[in-house]
Amino acid sequence: MAQAPTDAKPVTSTSSIASTASTGKEDTVAALNKIRGWIIVQGSGKSEQGAPQPVSYTIGRMVKYLNSHGFDMSVINSNDIDVYLTADDRKSILVSQKVTKLPRFVLARTGAKTDFYTLAVYRHLEHLDVPVINSPTAIDTVKDKLFTLQILAQNDIPVPKTILLKHPVNSKYVINKLGLPIIIKLLSGMQGNGVFMAETEKQLKTYCDLLVGVNPYAKMIFQECVKSSLGRDVRVLVVGGKIVGAMMRSNDSDFRANIHRGATGTNFKLPSRGEYLALATTRILGLDVAGVDLLFDDANGKHFKICEVNSSPGFEGFEKATGLNVSKYLKAYIQLKCNIPPPREDDDDTDDETKNEQNKDNNIDTNKSD
Ligand SMILES: Nc1ncnc2c1ncn2[C@@H]1O[C@H](COP(=O)(O)OP(=O)(O)O)[C@@H](O)[C@H]1O
Ligand SMILES: [Mg+2]
Repeated sequence: MAQAPTDAKPVTSTSSIASTASTGKEDTVAALNKIRGWIIVQGSGKSEQGAPQPVSYTIGRMVKYLNSHGFDMSVINSNDIDVYLTADDRKSILVSQKVTKLPRFVLARTGAKTDFYTLAVYRHLEHLDVPVINSPTAIDTVKDKLFTLQILAQNDIPVPKTILLKHPVNSKYVINKLGLPIIIKLLSGMQGNGVFMAETEKQLKTYCDLLVGVNPYAKMIFQECVKSSLGRDVRVLVVGGKIVGAMMRSNDSDFRANIHRGATGTNFKLPSRGEYLALATTRILGLDVAGVDLLFDDANGKHFKICEVNSSPGFEGFEKATGLNVSKYLKAYIQLKCNIPPPREDDDDTDDETKNEQNKDNNIDTNKSD
C-alpha cells in the first residue's frame, strides 16, 4: 500500500540544516494554507569536527521573510533526497527515505559547488513539474566560467579576452595575445581564491608551475587584465528579469574586489549600459536569480565587461550596501512564476525605498548623463 506523503519540516532553528519529515500531526489549518517551498543546500550541514553549522545569512533571511509572508519553507540537503523514478507517483518524493509531499517550488542554493548528485535531484524535481529556481541547466552552465564566457561572447556580450591552454603553457603566445599583466584563473575557484595576476613573463611561468604542481589536472584560463577595474567591480543582483540593485565593491589592498578579500561594498547607480548587459546576460544564460559581476571597462564607469555570473548570490554584503531586502523581490517573483496570487494585505516596498532614499546621499553615481 502506498505510504501517505508527509510534509518536509520547515527549519526551526539556525542549526537544523538537514531536513526531517514530520508526522504531520503538527499541521494546523493555517500551515496547510501556506505555500510550501524548499531551499536546497549541499553538504553535511556539519563542520569537520561534526558540529552543526548555522545556516547562512542569505538562507536565514529568505526563510524568515518568506515564512512571515504566507510561505512554509524547509531547508533540505540534496543528499537527503532520493532520486526514485516511477511513472505512478508524481506528487511525492522520498526525503530521508520518507514519502514527502512535493513543494510548490524549489530555491536552488548550491551555486558553483553544485555536484552531479544535486543536479540530478534538481532535474528529478523538474520532471515532477516543480519549478526549480534557478534551473539545473542554467546552474550547470554558469558553474563553468569558461563556458559562460563562451556563450556570452557568442551573443556579442563584452567579456575579457580569454584563452584556455594546456600545460606547459607557451607564455610568449599568451603575452602576445593578451599583453601584460595577465589574469590567471582556476576554472573552479570562488571568492577570489583561484585568481592571480602575473605582471611579468617570469611570474606567469611561476604561477603556472605552482598551480600545476599543486594539482596536475588544474584547469586554468588566462585573461586580459581589465585595468580600469583593478580593485573594483560591480555586483548586479537580478531577480526574474528585473534589476534589484547594484553594489560597487572596492578593494584598496588587492586587485580582486571580492568582499572575502577585504573589499567594501557601496550602493551603486548602474548606468543603463550596465543594466542592459546584466539583463541580457541572465536572459541568455536562462537564470531567474543571479549575481552578475561587471568589470569597469573605462575610467568613467560607463562601459563594462562581464567578469562572472553567480547562480546562488549571497545577500549579506549586497543588502548592507544597498539597504534593499532581496527576499521581497524573490517572493514577488516566486508568486509570479508559480502563479500564486499575492495576498491582499501584502505589503509594499516602503522600507526598501526609505532606505534607498537614505542611501542616495552616499551613492557613488557615475551615471550623470545616462
Ligand atoms: N580580467 C580581469 N581584469 C581585472 N580584474 C579582474 C579580472 N578578472 C577578475 N578580476 C578581479 O578578480 C575578482 C575575482 O575574479 P572572479 O573571476 O570573479 O573569481 P571568483 O569566482 O573567485 O570571484 C573579480 O571580482 C575582479 O575584481
Ligand atoms: Mg567573482
